[in-house]
Amino acid sequence: MNLTKKTILIVTSVSVALISVLLFLYITGSAQDNSATAQENKIGLKNINNTNASSKIKGKDIYGKYCVACHGINGNGQGLQAYRLKVKPTDFTSGMFKFKSTSYGTPPTADDIITTLKLGVRTTSMLPQWQLSNQQMKSVAEYVLSFSKQNIKTAKPIQVPGAPEKSRTILEKGKKLFQSNCATCHGTDGKGDGVLAKSLKDYKQNPSLPANLTLRPLKRANTSSRLYLVIATGIEGTPMPPFQNSLKPKDIWAIDYYVQSLKSGKQYSSNRNGMGMMGGMMGKNNKLVGEENIGMQIDMAAGHAWMMGKKK
Ligand code: HEC
Ligand code: HEC
Repeated sequence: MNLTKKTILIVTSVSVALISVLLFLYITGSAQDNSATAQENKIGLKNINNTNASSKIKGKDIYGKYCVACHGINGNGQGLQAYRLKVKPTDFTSGMFKFKSTSYGTPPTADDIITTLKLGVRTTSMLPQWQLSNQQMKSVAEYVLSFSKQNIKTAKPIQVPGAPEKSRTILEKGKKLFQSNCATCHGTDGKGDGVLAKSLKDYKQNPSLPANLTLRPLKRANTSSRLYLVIATGIEGTPMPPFQNSLKPKDIWAIDYYVQSLKSGKQYSSNRNGMGMMGGMMGKNNKLVGEENIGMQIDMAAGHAWMMGKKK
């Protein structure tokens, strides 16, 4: 086969795969689309491209278009699609944010919300929102924060101190510190099966399972500095406590390195529901895991942008 024929063949098969995926997204998403439109009409949304509108109105419009199906019109986490999800959409009226760079008990910064929009919350239906421009992310982040009426002006990110050199000694120290500070919840092997695991509840009295730290990806802590932040600031609204005040930075780094070393090579259990082909298309590092496939069905615009690797 000559080169041109080969190219044509490749191009055709790629297009066929793409069209099937889009069709699949279209079919599975159309039901949601109608309900989302109904909700949009209810709150009287304006065209999100209306450049005269103030940032707040723009944020509200973007929210109504892309977030309302899960997080709900009033931001209380009770969108029409929430019933389908095991990990429930955040209730923004509570002011409790899990993923932030500020100390436990203090509000997040607008940048923290934007970071969530860029990274998504892996293993949950909260996909990265790459269909939005940076400006749109900023507007919708401000709108999200307005539900809880917190004063975010005082929010100060904590600094992640420079990482020490990795060594056997530091790993051993991390292991010891892990056993005394983390194992009751995360288990002695970090598999999420500590003695307290089954009894833990979040602030809404829903079960709150400690992460299995041997699986990847984690929700957020997938780089050493994000892991450092999680250990230092805790996860607001859940039993995961902050260690910022009880451990020294070098001890937190030791635990950080140890947790990274727990990675078993296994992925978070995937629950594909016939989304295998799409998982394949996302490439090795972007396999759909946990409830991400349901997120794809509900949140077509974000799913499409993520799949295409489109980053505005
Ligand atoms: C398909 C459902 C779905 C859609 C659509 C969705 N989210 Fe989410 N979102 C979730 C879920 C579920 C979580 C909770 C993850 C967790 O608690 O682990 C979440 C979490 C978040 C968080 C993190 C909150 C925290 O605790 O730190 C932010 C911020 C957020 N969403 C903003 C948005 C915005 C803004 C949009 C629209 C542009 C949006 N989401 C669209 C399902 C969704
Ligand atoms: C009292 C119980 C408890 C203790 C003690 C605890 N955790 Fe957690 N941890 C949790 C729970 C619950 C979650 C899940 C929160 C969620 O995702 O909603 C969690 C989540 C995590 C995550 C996952 C973050 C992500 O991105 O998904 C990491 C990492 C973590 N804990 C590390 C630690 C380390 C390290 C220690 C000890 C220094 C520790 N935890 C101590 C309960 C605990």
